[in-house]
Amino acid sequence: MTSSMPPLRVGLAGVGVVGQGLVRFLEASPDFAPAGRSVVITGVSGRRRDLKRDVDLAPYAWFDDAVTLAKSPDIDVLVEVIGGAEGVARHAVEAAITANKPVVTANKALLAVHGRTLAEMAEARGVALLFEAAVMGGTPAVKMLREGLVGDDVTQVAGILNGTCNFILSEMERSGKSFADVLADAQARGFAEADPTTDIGGFDAGHKIALLGALAFGCAPHFAGVEVQGIEQVELIDIRLAHDLGYRIKLIAEARRDGASATVRVGPALVPLDHPLAQAGGALNAVFIEGARIGRIFLQGPGAGAGPTAAAVAADLADLLTGARRPVFQRQARTLQPLSADRAATRNTAAYLRMRVQDRPGVIAAVTDALARADVSIDSFLQRSAQNSGLVPIVLTTHVASEHAIAHAVDEIAALDAVVERPRFIRIAKI
Ligand SMILES: NC(=O)c1ccc[n+]([C@@H]2O[C@H](COP(=O)([O-])OP(=O)(O)OC[C@H]3O[C@@H](n4cnc5c(N)ncnc54)[C@H](OP(=O)(O)O)[C@@H]3O)[C@@H](O)[C@H]2O)c1
Repeated sequence: MTSSMPPLRVGLAGVGVVGQGLVRFLEASPDFAPAGRSVVITGVSGRRRDLKRDVDLAPYAWFDDAVTLAKSPDIDVLVEVIGGAEGVARHAVEAAITANKPVVTANKALLAVHGRTLAEMAEARGVALLFEAAVMGGTPAVKMLREGLVGDDVTQVAGILNGTCNFILSEMERSGKSFADVLADAQARGFAEADPTTDIGGFDAGHKIALLGALAFGCAPHFAGVEVQGIEQVELIDIRLAHDLGYRIKLIAEARRDGASATVRVGPALVPLDHPLAQAGGALNAVFIEGARIGRIFLQGPGAGAGPTAAAVAADLADLLTGARRPVFQRQARTLQPLSADRAATRNTAAYLRMRVQDRPGVIAAVTDALARADVSIDSFLQRSAQNSGLVPIVLTTHVASEHAIAHAVDEIAALDAVVERPRFIRIAKI
């Protein structure tokens, strides 16, 4: 399709995995948008101009400073794919909005922390701030919540939002290797960052669920209010025992609303083996969305990668061309309130508890007594042979009980002489 309209000129801040994916996409398909107007990159910015890259950046004006690129009169829109909540990414996005230029970003950290302020700035100037690529990469979760479900009353969004963690947990189960060994393999093969903290510590999934929760409930994203636990403590023995009990361990991010308050959290959880989330293996992302009118929706797809993420950026560029305009987070930013966090003491869950105890009479009775005193009832119990080690692995699941009470019982069990290490407490997901 050709058009007499001048092309939309993109300033690309960040020429790493996603940035290069967008260069390839727009070089191959400048006329992808259903708007009769092509999209071309005119300027790029990165840290290292001389770095050898998989794409040729010579045709584009180079900017050492992304903020200068953002303000350049030769761009109509800034695509920010640098990353990070602070520093140059934030400054470049602010500079573009201040210069009345729309912004498309894949940066979940930035929006989870500063989303409301940036949305207010953008809305005050009437410029778009779009972020489809920030959550679930190429799988359109943002549009689904912001646009497709605007007529519903969403009560829960929960699922797998970090492909690296999902890959590591899947690979531990498949290969029988420890967390540390699988992480090292994943780093060597480029599936995990050299500094994996953001992924394995649960922070990346925390940024994403802060955004999905904000879109789902019409609130301001508030990363500081997200309870975050990573997968560093998940051991192979837990993966195996959970499997024997009919579950798989996944890093679950969830935003659940209950009246005016909400729980937004990330942490390992047991999911029944026949549940669709348990079957989303490898680097896949998958979420359930529950709405009062529409019911349950299941969305699964690639959560990262140059191709899928560039396609999500392109979808936002197409929206700019077609003129689709909505508040950044579903409602006007100046009216958004952060979700008020639920109190952990009032939450209920079923739990998986795993411990190693000395092989002597009365120990199991002491464990079950501690649970009974906390009003936590046992659903299933599995005891493995001591195999001459003198230590018996015990795993049990509880019925739904107060999370606070379960944590209290765990403290009591940990204090027993015959219990050699603090029991491992993993929630059983309610999805
Ligand atoms: N990778 C994915 O699959 C994926 C999926 C969804 C969302 N995202 C998000 O997309 C963003 C980019 O991710 P990525 O994987 O493409 O990261 P990346 O490969 O590390 O690329 C980051 C880019 O930013 C540039 N950069 C860093 N500091 C800079 C500075 N001070 N000034 C100008 N440029 C600077 C780097 O320049 P040099 O190349 O010169 O070092 C690099 O080109 C992040 O927010 C990420 O969370 C990524």
